[in-house]
Amino acid sequence: MSTPIQQLGYLGFGVSDLAVWERFGTDVLGFAIARRDEDGFSLRMDDHAQRYFIEKGDDDLAFVGWQVADREGLDECARRLRAAGVEVTEGTPEQCARREVKELITFRDPGGTPVEIYYGPRMADGPFESKCVGSHFVAGELGLGHLVISTPDRDRIRDFYIEVLGFGLSDHIQVNLGGYPVDVAFLHVNPRHHSLAMGGPMPKKIHHFLIQVASLDDLGLALDRTLDFGLQIVQGLGRHPNDRMVSFYAETPSGFQFEYGWGGREIEVGDWKPTVYHQISEWGHRFQPRRKPKVAAE
Ligand SMILES: [Fe+2]
Repeated sequence: MSTPIQQLGYLGFGVSDLAVWERFGTDVLGFAIARRDEDGFSLRMDDHAQRYFIEKGDDDLAFVGWQVADREGLDECARRLRAAGVEVTEGTPEQCARREVKELITFRDPGGTPVEIYYGPRMADGPFESKCVGSHFVAGELGLGHLVISTPDRDRIRDFYIEVLGFGLSDHIQVNLGGYPVDVAFLHVNPRHHSLAMGGPMPKKIHHFLIQVASLDDLGLALDRTLDFGLQIVQGLGRHPNDRMVSFYAETPSGFQFEYGWGGREIEVGDWKPTVYHQISEWGHRFQPRRKPKVAAE
């Protein structure tokens, strides 16, 4: 079954400290402020007018936005969701205006993650320029990156995305981490190796989101900026066997993590045989000792 979903279009985070997130989003990640309102601000990283919505909240994922091509794609998703017994709500004109999309629907996936599906996002007026990323973010039609969500019932939620929404299974990584069996499922909607992954229950709704840059130097510079900002590096540089991404992991100011990467592979959608890997990394991604909490002064 094919999917009407084209890409991971936007993410919403609820954060306790909007001011720190503003500096983190622009000075560390390299995004630019798109809009501000009474609830917070949004960030852009490519031609899309808004990719990240940062709102006052409880330091967790607030919502995930998936993009379809048009009204037909939106109706198809709503039809499939309702047939699967999921309660679907039409977005209000105010919600659509805030997201700058033509129409949207909202629902919760079986794990409780708030999800939106939309079409017709506004494209920004001018080309995107980052003040610290010299190449560019690998986004556009591949979507903003990927995210890994908490799943109380991993298989059921993986199957929901595959069987109801038509996501493709890329592969699994099954390993034993210090006596704990880990089994992560990776799903795709476009040539990006995975846009969504899930590995079981976690304290927050999100484990991490990925940002990809087009040059190795921009990855190294992001690592420097992360350290200079005083954020905790969780896993040092390494390379994953399945998406071939060279990346590091660090904590956002909200405690959940971001992965900053370069060199991820693209896959042939529709001609893809899922496999199972038995290592999380080909090399690196070593867990780093915890440092004292510190956020760089203004
Ligand atoms: Fe990742």
